[in-house]
Amino acid sequence: MKPDAETLPEPSAEDQRRSQLLLAAIEQECARQSGSISFAHYMHMALYQPGLGYYSNGLQKFGVNGDFITAPAVSALFSQCLARQISMVGRELETYSVLEFGAGSGLMAADILQELARQNAVPESYQILEISTELRQRQQATIAANAPELLARVSWLDALPEHFQGVVLANEVLDAMPVECFRRRVDSVEQMYVRIAGNGLKSGYQPASTGVAAAVAAIEERREATLPNSYYSELNLHHRPWLEALYQSLERGAVLLVDYGYGVKEYYHEQRNRGTLMCHYQQRAHANPLWYPGLQDITSYVDFTEVADAAIDAGFEMLGYTTQAAFLVGSGLAELHAEQVSDDVRVQVSLSQQIKTLTLPSEMGERFKVMGLAKALAVELNGFGVQDLRSRL
Ligand SMILES: C[S@@+](CC[C@H](N)C(=O)[O-])C[C@H]1O[C@@H](n2cnc3c(N)ncnc32)[C@H](O)[C@@H]1O
Repeated sequence: MKPDAETLPEPSAEDQRRSQLLLAAIEQECARQSGSISFAHYMHMALYQPGLGYYSNGLQKFGVNGDFITAPAVSALFSQCLARQISMVGRELETYSVLEFGAGSGLMAADILQELARQNAVPESYQILEISTELRQRQQATIAANAPELLARVSWLDALPEHFQGVVLANEVLDAMPVECFRRRVDSVEQMYVRIAGNGLKSGYQPASTGVAAAVAAIEERREATLPNSYYSELNLHHRPWLEALYQSLERGAVLLVDYGYGVKEYYHEQRNRGTLMCHYQQRAHANPLWYPGLQDITSYVDFTEVADAAIDAGFEMLGYTTQAAFLVGSGLAELHAEQVSDDVRVQVSLSQQIKTLTLPSEMGERFKVMGLAKALAVELNGFGVQDLRSRL
């Protein structure tokens, strides 16, 4: 069961002060915007406000001592499987680079580089596009510690490169892009706004902007039915421009997107009438995004039908769409595991546990999906060879 925000551990006095500073910045922004800001604007500040937002403030977030654990920290096997797909693309190109969005702790970059080195397929460069400056330093330290001989290949970008050839990776990045929350009424659509009330934050609904109303209409068209009255959910207006910009930047290559999500009919199912927005604080999930802004992660599931439509409209071809479990199995998870078999029973137990977490339906196996896109590249990735879920989009 998701705990209520009231049952979460109380942040330290210092952390509460950090959150107060962010609240002051939100208050100023609300004043500039005649009293309130849209939920996506609030979520952007809560996550990315320089120095204060959740991803920018230097607090520990990834791993067992943080707020959540992502697949690269569950097991290096995850990154090694990705490396196998990357080298398949690399073989089709004269030279290739890797571009990773939102590299978190830097662990995935370090493990991928090491596996690519083992396969004699080191990319020309490994570029990281990270919007949080604090995380850049953390990524650099992880790569320096785990793959020092490859650090020279890694660079950090402030914006998309003008020309790029190779493989683009985004693990749990789409879910970290700010969403708008909406409410369907019989004859109208409303969206959530956030404002300061007393010492805290309050949310309320107002008529939707043209962009949000059009996005809800597009959802209803894709799901082939109007949403019911009093239906609450969220939508992402960032995915489309992000994919368009990516298509312009990529000359030739593939994009691998890994995230938790569903196709449109499952995402906007009548019974999922409270949306998928989730917050994480110290390994606990709850549903109050206004709780201590800057101290907790805010995220939502990805509508992969919307991502696929936006990608195809941008010009991409679809390489595949499948569950994380099927993708890892297709990428050679069993062979990688066999190579790492050890006489040490503790290593064996640990590897089995890691594989279970990555692949079991009750863990990350089915909730997480992998979508592959390509531009000017004819390649069949074996990660998509085990199961094809495109019909669910
Ligand atoms: C949930 S974390 C995932 C981190 C890492 N990929 C992992 O799997 O552990 C989300 C990451 O995406 C980054 N991010 C969000 N939007 C981004 C964008 N538009 N461009 C680049 N990075 C972004 C955040 O700063 C953060 O590092």
